[in-house]
Amino acid sequence: MPDALALLRTRRSVKPMELGGPGPSAAELETLLTIASRVPDHGKLAPWRFLVFEGEAREKAGEAIAAVFRETHADATPEQTEFERKRLARAPLVIAVISRAGPHVKIPEWEQQLSAGAAAMNLVHAAYALGYAASWITEWYAYDRRVLDALGLGASERIAGFVHIGRPAKPPEDRDRPKLADIVTRYGD
Ligand SMILES: Cc1cc2nc3c(=O)[nH]c(=O)nc-3n(C[C@H](O)[C@H](O)[C@H](O)COP(=O)(O)O)c2cc1C
Repeated sequence: MPDALALLRTRRSVKPMELGGPGPSAAELETLLTIASRVPDHGKLAPWRFLVFEGEAREKAGEAIAAVFRETHADATPEQTEFERKRLARAPLVIAVISRAGPHVKIPEWEQQLSAGAAAMNLVHAAYALGYAASWITEWYAYDRRVLDALGLGASERIAGFVHIGRPAKPPEDRDRPKLADIVTRYGD
């Protein structure tokens, strides 16, 4: 297992297309979900849930994405439709982090949404800690109500991300990061 600080310092997203198999085992999947659900959560509301796409279910879900795509793109080529059908089948495992945030007497909705972000990030880091790579993406279908309905999301549920998990084809190159001088100030200076 990589050293925690090294992992946090070096993690890079790997594109879904570059995430191959074999994917996580059943025991590893349980570890991923356990760690994803172990996040700060004001009020202990668990304002998130997870939807797992593995094996053939990935293309079954893709049918729903492709159907909605065809509805809005009547002139789509077969290749384009096929690409949409395979959206969730690029990586061996995709986990949708679903926000269940809503109005609450005490806990602001914003804080519930932040907790879903924390769950997605924990999931990503857990994947790397197990030796996989990941990509946290949303793409258009995360925002299309027809797709969300077809995937079984409730009316007030939203997608925080589709976290794609697999084995990287090649080590990713780093990218520029914000300079601390541009984003950090010390109060009082
Ligand atoms: C909520 C959320 C949604 C994202 N959606 C997409 C997306 O749809 N497509 C994409 O290319 N990157 C998306 N990203 C960015 C990637 O997760 C990733 O941060 C980016 O590729 C940079 O790589 P890095 O994680 O190695 O810094 C999203 C990030 C967040 C936090």
